[in-house]
Amino acid sequence: MKTQVADLTFELSIPYASIEKRVGEIAGQISSDYSGRIPVMVGILSGSFLFVADLVKQIETPIEVTFAKLASYYGGTSTTRKIRDDFDLTIDIKGRDIILVEDIVDTGNTMHYLIEKLKVREPASITVCSLLLKPDALERTIPELKYTGFEIANEFVVGYGLDYKELGRNLKGIFKKVE
Ligand code: IMP
Repeated sequence: MKTQVADLTFELSIPYASIEKRVGEIAGQISSDYSGRIPVMVGILSGSFLFVADLVKQIETPIEVTFAKLASYYGGTSTTRKIRDDFDLTIDIKGRDIILVEDIVDTGNTMHYLIEKLKVREPASITVCSLLLKPDALERTIPELKYTGFEIANEFVVGYGLDYKELGRNLKGIFKKVE
């Protein structure tokens, strides 16, 4: 199935049914890993909004949910390496178990930046949950990355929260750019 987003053409790569199944598995893992604790899930906007929504619906342990906003792509199809802090966490995370939820880890620079920034606030722990990971694009190891939905090739994708020029976030599955 092909679709047009702004000036680019994309084709279906991961259907929503597969995402739904995998999100359920991750939610089960998080529920058992954090049983007896009350973690704080921090969705990184804008890309993670659908993933966070689907994930928390299936988490069975008490959990707080909040958001922070970072931007690192500025509308293109490759990283600019510039990270813009749009809005910060509004809660005190000292002593708390933090689960950062990202749409995608590409070079890993955004996650590295955020983790270093949050460590100074002395949380009890930080783990990262990313729907997608591009292993071939990784420039840093992210030891905190504990939950990954799908590993994908080094290709540009949209849908299920991910955008191209702010469009395509509403596509139900993950679509990859047609060369
Ligand atoms: P990183 O800092 O290179 O790991 O990039 C992470 C951020 O870049 C993600 O949160 C996305 O906003 C954006 N990004 C990376 N790859 C893609 C992609 O294939 N499609 C859309 N956005 C992407």
